[in-house]
Amino acid sequence: TDRANLPPRPPVVTIMGHVDHGKTTLLDTLRSTSVAKGEAGGITQHIGAFSVPVPTSSDDPKTTKTITFLDTPGHAAFSAMRARGASVTDIIVLVVAADDGIMPQTREVLDLVKKDAGKVGLVVAVNKIDKPSADTSKVETALFAEGVQLECFGGDIPSVHVSGLTGQGLPELVETISILSEMQDVRAETDGQVQGYVLESKVSKGMGPVATVLVLRGQLTPGTHLIAGTAHGKVRVLKSPSGSSVKAVLPGTAAVVSGWKELPKAGDEVLSGSEGDVKKALTNRLRNAEKAAMMEDVEI
Ligand code: GTP
Ligand code: NA
Ligand code: MG
Repeated sequence: TDRANLPPRPPVVTIMGHVDHGKTTLLDTLRSTSVAKGEAGGITQHIGAFSVPVPTSSDDPKTTKTITFLDTPGHAAFSAMRARGASVTDIIVLVVAADDGIMPQTREVLDLVKKDAGKVGLVVAVNKIDKPSADTSKVETALFAEGVQLECFGGDIPSVHVSGLTGQGLPELVETISILSEMQDVRAETDGQVQGYVLESKVSKGMGPVATVLVLRGQLTPGTHLIAGTAHGKVRVLKSPSGSSVKAVLPGTAAVVSGWKELPKAGDEVLSGSEGDVKKALTNRLRNAEKAAMMEDVEI
């Protein structure tokens, strides 16, 4: 297929950074609900996902497009989740608190970006600029010393000064993300096999095993047979991350999927197929998993 003929999809933007540097608050202000306050101890436990319409950078102020944001935990224990977030993302927004500066998980994110060099875009959000102790130029100088080629030093990586608390700088941040994503021009097939990733999963009281799935190609609809790791199922209900039922999930967006026979694991790739193909793939995977377990026994 000629790539240019594929329909555009929303860019996937992952918010990363050190613990408590303000990722959830920033997203929260963007979406204007209150997830940060609702979290246990104010710590992000999982990768949350939501899509927002944003104005485009074109001359017509009425045109909008959608951006899908993923939140990630900054706590040291969640580096696998950050790696997972980085691997499905088009753009990483690195949040650095202006009063705290570069911290261990800030460096970890920079390493992730280096590993994906060229494939993932980077935007720095110097956050908490409302604080009297904020020192944005100190943060930027330190980032530059770490090899981040910031625009303010003649490089090509934009840095935006924001306060997730007051909302200051957020329109500029969204515009910067918007411009970068227009240059990336991400597109995806909406026909054929569905491919995506499990962002999080849990057993829900009313719905049984459910998974938040980020779709990257194809179209997820009720009735679709899915496999993820060694879990399978037939899509029963699709809900947007905010809870409303949807009829189809298009590439670049996430939805909560019910109908799983087992609980899929966060990070697993999701693929669709005919009922027969899914069952065959499942049998193979289970057999391989059994073999791998036996090999481990032999090694001991
Ligand atoms: P983890 O998910 O645990 O890694 O944290 P996080 O990066 O999502 O940070 P969170 O949004 O939970 O904010 C941490 C603390 O910083 C909270 O007490 C927020 O109120 C505060 N905070 C976040 N953004 C700002 C800001 O722009 N200004 C000020 N003054 N405080 C902020
Ligand atoms: Na926090
Ligand atoms: Mg958080």
